[in-house]
Amino acid sequence: MTLKNIDIMEFKRNIIITGGAGFIGSHVVRLFVNKYPDYRIINLDKLTYAGNLANLVDIEGKPNYIFVKADICDFEKIRELMTVYHVDGIIHLAAESHVDRSIRDPFTFARTNVLGTLSLLQAAKLYWESQSEGYEGKRFYHISTDEVYGALELTHPKGLKNDISAHEVYGDDFFHETTKYNPHSPYSASKASSDHFVRAFHDTYGMPTIITNCSNNYGPYQFPEKLIPLFINNIRHRKPLPVYGKGENVRDWLYVEDHARAIDLIFHKGRIADTYNIGGFNEWKNIDIIKVVIDTVDRLLGRELGEDINLITYVTDRKGHDLRYAIDSTKLKTELGWQPSLQFEEGIERTVRWYLDNQDWMDNVTSGNYQRYYDEMYNKR
Ligand code: NAD
Ligand code: DAU
Repeated sequence: MTLKNIDIMEFKRNIIITGGAGFIGSHVVRLFVNKYPDYRIINLDKLTYAGNLANLVDIEGKPNYIFVKADICDFEKIRELMTVYHVDGIIHLAAESHVDRSIRDPFTFARTNVLGTLSLLQAAKLYWESQSEGYEGKRFYHISTDEVYGALELTHPKGLKNDISAHEVYGDDFFHETTKYNPHSPYSASKASSDHFVRAFHDTYGMPTIITNCSNNYGPYQFPEKLIPLFINNIRHRKPLPVYGKGENVRDWLYVEDHARAIDLIFHKGRIADTYNIGGFNEWKNIDIIKVVIDTVDRLLGRELGEDINLITYVTDRKGHDLRYAIDSTKLKTELGWQPSLQFEEGIERTVRWYLDNQDWMDNVTSGNYQRYYDEMYNKR
């Protein structure tokens, strides 16, 4: 749809969701489009290698959904969209999101994640300040990551599985909303910088902002450069599974639809200028989660259990590889009543099944340019 022929239908809210063709963004767009038929949802995405409109075919024709191909760094374009669609809310997910790519190409991360966020903030500021009601009823919601907090020690090496009361046992051994920023990778440094800009726009201009910092997501539509979809696909095709270092690093895994539910809740009920951590209380050492993935793929493909364990190939560690991430999301539970709805066992079963059932999607995204990058990155190890 061009800007000239937009309909004049009245919507209760007009919300830009950036990065809506990516992994998490597509789940958020789908949730909002289906749950709020009286909201106009404008999916703004540049369609980089990570953005794929095939993630959203089920909602393509909905009357409250619009896709706009645009770069968040294109300040004039964002200004135009704000005005044309009377935008009163922004949920900002667009980003370069893969740590390994940031190590090879930090400039792209600074451009998109820092300057792109600044461009959105400034465009929103100019439009909202030009309205008679100013910032009233407006919201700029920035989606960030737990990686801005740095890395934790391995104090309970087995990890904590689905244990929402874990913080009572382990006290401060988590990232809290008050944890000092200490990013290590170019990716996390760029996300930390964008978080600072968002806070600055609240503190300087009074923009109604909210930030959330979430742990590792897993689920359908994740680009297969990230651990879980990459390994599912490699196991299926009996390709090596490149485990960085000794596989001892720990991540806290959350099913992507639970993240989308949290975003919905926080967008509507979160406190302005506040920060909420979102996590699964679901820590796994990489090597342990890899074994679960191998067993699940083998079982669902009718292979002998553990048949593919020898695909595990230990490779050179990621530079500056953060040892452990673990989020304390108690504040979100106490203040807004959110907690993960899925046990990990169910989430991983669903996820593996989805990738095995959607080989066309996988083949589509692993072809072309991405395939070339993939070959260069892993096959030379
Ligand atoms: P993704 O890489 O799957 O998707 C990113 C999307 O942003 C793609 O659709 C891409 O086309 C779009 N995009 C990239 N650059 C753009 C630009 N300049 N202009 C417009 N669109 C652009 O990312 P994801 O994993 O879905 O992550 C989404 C957000 O959530 C990111 O901000 C990320 O930092 C954050 N996050 C991700 C995780 C995770 O585990 N994946 C966890 C916590 C936070
Ligand atoms: O914590 C939230 C972050 O989680 C998000 O902000 C990022 O956007 C997202 O990419 C993710 O970052 P990670 O670096 O933790 O995810 P990734 O899937 O790349 O790696 C998970 C772990 O697995 C990590 O310790 C590195 C390891 N790994 C990864 C790949 C791709 C391997 O051992 N081998 C691999 O091939």
